[in-house]
Amino acid sequence: MIRANNLALRRGDKLLFSGADFSVFPGQKVAVVGRNGCGKSSLFALLQHGLESDTGSLSTPVTWIRAAVAQAIPDSDESALAFVMASDLKVAQINAALAEQQDDAMVHAHLLHDLLEAGGYTLEARAARLLDGLGFSFADQQKPVQEFSGGWRMRLALACALLAPSDLLLLDEPTNHLDLDTLLWLEEWLRSYSGTLLTISHDREFLDAVCTQTLHLDGSAAILYQGNYTSFARQRNERRVLAQSEAQAVERRRGELQRFVDRFKAKASKARQAQSRMKMLERLESAPVPADERDFELRLPVPDKLPTTLLSLSDVATGYEDLQILSGLKLSINPQDRIGLLGRNGAGKSTLMKLMAGKLSATRGERTTARETNIGYFDQHQVELLDVTQSPIALMRDLAPGTSDQVIRDWLGRFAYSGELATSICGPRSGGEKARLALALLLWKKPNLLLLDEPTNHLDLAMRQALAEAISDYEGAVVLVSHDRALLSASCEQFYLVHDGEMEPYTGDLDEYAAWQSQQRSAARAEAKTERADARSSGKSNPRSAQRAIEKLESKMNACAGALKQAQADFDRASQSGQRQRTAELGAALKAAQKTLDAAEAEWLGAAEAQNYQ
Ligand SMILES: Nc1ncnc2c1ncn2[C@@H]1O[C@H](COP(=O)(O)OP(=O)(O)OP(=O)(O)O)[C@@H](O)[C@H]1O
Ligand SMILES: [Mg+2]
Repeated sequence: MIRANNLALRRGDKLLFSGADFSVFPGQKVAVVGRNGCGKSSLFALLQHGLESDTGSLSTPVTWIRAAVAQAIPDSDESALAFVMASDLKVAQINAALAEQQDDAMVHAHLLHDLLEAGGYTLEARAARLLDGLGFSFADQQKPVQEFSGGWRMRLALACALLAPSDLLLLDEPTNHLDLDTLLWLEEWLRSYSGTLLTISHDREFLDAVCTQTLHLDGSAAILYQGNYTSFARQRNERRVLAQSEAQAVERRRGELQRFVDRFKAKASKARQAQSRMKMLERLESAPVPADERDFELRLPVPDKLPTTLLSLSDVATGYEDLQILSGLKLSINPQDRIGLLGRNGAGKSTLMKLMAGKLSATRGERTTARETNIGYFDQHQVELLDVTQSPIALMRDLAPGTSDQVIRDWLGRFAYSGELATSICGPRSGGEKARLALALLLWKKPNLLLLDEPTNHLDLAMRQALAEAISDYEGAVVLVSHDRALLSASCEQFYLVHDGEMEPYTGDLDEYAAWQSQQRSAARAEAKTERADARSSGKSNPRSAQRAIEKLESKMNACAGALKQAQADFDRASQSGQRQRTAELGAALKAAQKTLDAAEAEWLGAAEAQNYQ
């Protein structure tokens, strides 16, 4: 079991928790909850031996194998499937031994037996099933890792953690990069996981579905509750009420004692009693009332100007290089509009947000904004885009040159960045703290059109609630992409569905949408299954889909060639103007572009040849 004994941890000069005593038994599934920055990820670092405790101990059985989600996935040209399979180190080890061991038949036989025991023969099937559950199509599973975007790489990292055999699984906000139906899949998977699970999350529905214990980091205490999140919330409330009434009783007693002392301390006949009551008074400590989660209040700044139409799209198409993602986009956004964008991961919601934000241009049609339109765009990866080598104050000074330090400090203070937190670099800040800072920077310019792409990743429950309330009071317009159902339904009045390269108004509610989505997914799975079965039984792939795949690869090859040309031109320019550092950087980029083109060409060649042989 995991045993915390009088455990204390400090980071920088902040005491995260002290005197923590709890035990987690094998097979238990524990939700780790608490406000942003309270030390949840740090506790995980302790469990992974990445940190040392200040006092006390935190022990796990020595034989336990731990699995956790890697923070970053390397740029590998291995396929997603092979990459995930390699995370089963035991099987990899046996396979390596088998490759080396040719001569001794006995040893060879033993190794084969070990491979069977370790599930080596089912590894590929298990990895493929996991990837399928996490939303990777059959074709995606064959794609090189380096082609996946940040969010998808996080899913790969999650797949690796789930596939590797483990006794203890540590998941730090696993739902952040998932869409609704992958999230439901993950819940199911985790429920049937037989090891011990500790998961951090700010999603109460997810926690309720998976966990049976809740570890709450609160102030500097760490308390383990039996029961899921809802049961924890109820117990905590009861504790609070109880502690409050205990504190009141103590206060009453204190008053009585004090009155006695005041009255009789000067009287010789009662002096002894007064003395003893004074001692009692000194000993009387009021039971601490658990700090009520100080709710965060967020007010979105009032925009200076509000043009009648903030942004409009008329028959717009957009995409990347030669790849068209969306077309026929029609939309007009006015102040007070609250638009929620729905659609599966990869459907193009973020692309649409980028287009609206002006980060991506229209390849057809027109995107127009009013002169006074002032966009605040929260990118899906906004937190990763923060320059973490700077302090919040320095970041604000860059953003608002000429603004007095006091005004900057006041502004940051509204986002709970004050004192040391405001002046030290933001690298060590927790995920939620960084997200809060990203919001502070974004809102400074008083935007009148907010484009928020998954803004709640990392944010704790109170902060999500604050955001939903702030949006409802806001005078500008909001377009929101989020997998947080509570935020979507609290904030949005109209929904659009991004699907099949288009966008259309969605009139159903969110429950209907969830049902529709899971239906779509099962249909897609069934189709993929038949395609695979066809391919297997005939030994050939479906000629139509093969042709489509070749066409896709051709356009990818063209795009890569275009990127290479651009990289070459940039490199030449930098080297001619003698910028050494820049030349070196661009040289590396050029090499990478060449590598990508080579890979695309090889892939195309393989596919074209395969088709010729059919
Ligand atoms: N190296 C460090 N030096 C100083 N302070 C640090 C360091 N690393 C983390 N902290 C601080 O320790 C606190 C706990 O961080 P941690 O990442 O454990 O929080 P968390 O509970 O996981 O928060 P979140 O919900 O936002 O992910 C935060 O206030 C963070 O800013
Ligand atoms: Mg964290």
